[in-house]
Amino acid sequence: MTAETSQSTFEPARARGHSEIVWDHALGSEVWDTEGKKYIDFTSGVLVTNIGHAHPEVAAAVAAQAARLTNCYDFPQPLRAQLAERLVGLAGPDFEQAALFTTGAEAIDAALRTARAATDRFEFVAFMHGFHGRSFTAASVGGLQTTRSSAGPLLPGVLFAPYPYLYRDPLGEDSAQSVDIAIAYLEMMADTVSTGSIAAVIAEPYLGSGGGVVPPREFFQRIRAFCDERGALMILDEVQSGFGRAGSWFAYQQLGIVPDILVVAKGIANGLPLSAVLAREETFAAMPPGTLGSTYGGNPVSSAAALATLNVLERDALPERAAQVGGYMLDWLRERQDGFPHVGDIRGMGMSFGIELVEDKATKAPAPDRALAAVSAAAREGLLVLPPSGNLGNVLRMAPALNIPDDLLQQGLLRLEKVLSEA
Ligand SMILES: Cc1ncc(COP(=O)(O)O)c(C=O)c1O
Repeated sequence: MTAETSQSTFEPARARGHSEIVWDHALGSEVWDTEGKKYIDFTSGVLVTNIGHAHPEVAAAVAAQAARLTNCYDFPQPLRAQLAERLVGLAGPDFEQAALFTTGAEAIDAALRTARAATDRFEFVAFMHGFHGRSFTAASVGGLQTTRSSAGPLLPGVLFAPYPYLYRDPLGEDSAQSVDIAIAYLEMMADTVSTGSIAAVIAEPYLGSGGGVVPPREFFQRIRAFCDERGALMILDEVQSGFGRAGSWFAYQQLGIVPDILVVAKGIANGLPLSAVLAREETFAAMPPGTLGSTYGGNPVSSAAALATLNVLERDALPERAAQVGGYMLDWLRERQDGFPHVGDIRGMGMSFGIELVEDKATKAPAPDRALAAVSAAAREGLLVLPPSGNLGNVLRMAPALNIPDDLLQQGLLRLEKVLSEA
């Protein structure tokens, strides 16, 4: 089976720019293709297998649960209840209930509907360059051409404000100014084009698919103040950043704010489909029984996988390791940036990185073709990185497992150094 027949012909859902390999199996931070070639994995799938592929404790929990009970819809079930309780405990005292779903986009939809019901308002504020999934609702609050351009008319009542993207800020790379401008725009928009019915502001703690952009933390404090002043809820999309990826259990814990609604998925069950929305009881009170939920949401197998994953993250202190190793990786790459002729910017939060490729460091002209070629070059070197992201398609992204062994990390970095020197 070739990459072409297995992926292009039968899978129109395939992302643009993936390396031409066909995955066969993976263990920890290593992946083997169908031809037996081995790769170091800097993708974690797509920031999902935070504790490494095929983790034995997750595999055992899944196998045991699959032989016991796989679906009971939303009947009460002990694992599901334990998981909801555990999530609420991890997220802290400002969260009292967790609703379980299957995908990130589904949970975003549920969070937006909950915000509308809880506030009895209908508008949403979202951010340019944001990504919240590919369903119609999630695309409607997304600020990237990749999700919007083929979607036709999207949900009405969504207003967009700028997200501080320092490297490409038209007024220059001044972080305080960039935040001031984004918030001034937000305020101006709320005072002019809004109908006065803002239910919620939705944001990512860093731009994931938007290119790994990490804004100043003051940005979130100012959004929080905006929401408090205007009676809107703050929804933080931690689908990507949660479960240690950002260097703490949840990114919000580093931002000096608490959102009203927290959306999580990806790393929660290390690869099994599961997502959740967390909020206070009074927020969920507006959603009568039966209005949230879905066929596979919080199914027993995914819940078992999630509980095993959370045990490993906690026992092995992986959120802390992500902060430490992520900081090391960022410094290591930035120290070498002068030797990378087409790397304009290197950024990261915890173990999530964005490397922006440009034709010319002075003009910052984007280099999407170089980014595509770099993904393939990395695969030839035996390193898997994510397909190019960002609105301009010129950002390489990488996200190793939080427990990647030191020697594999170092080998992976050396391979990346070679690729970036030649990109
Ligand atoms: C920040 C963010 N939100 C939402 C989603 C959508 O998640 P899913 O693909 O599970 O629908 C993603 C997926 O990449 C994401 O990165």
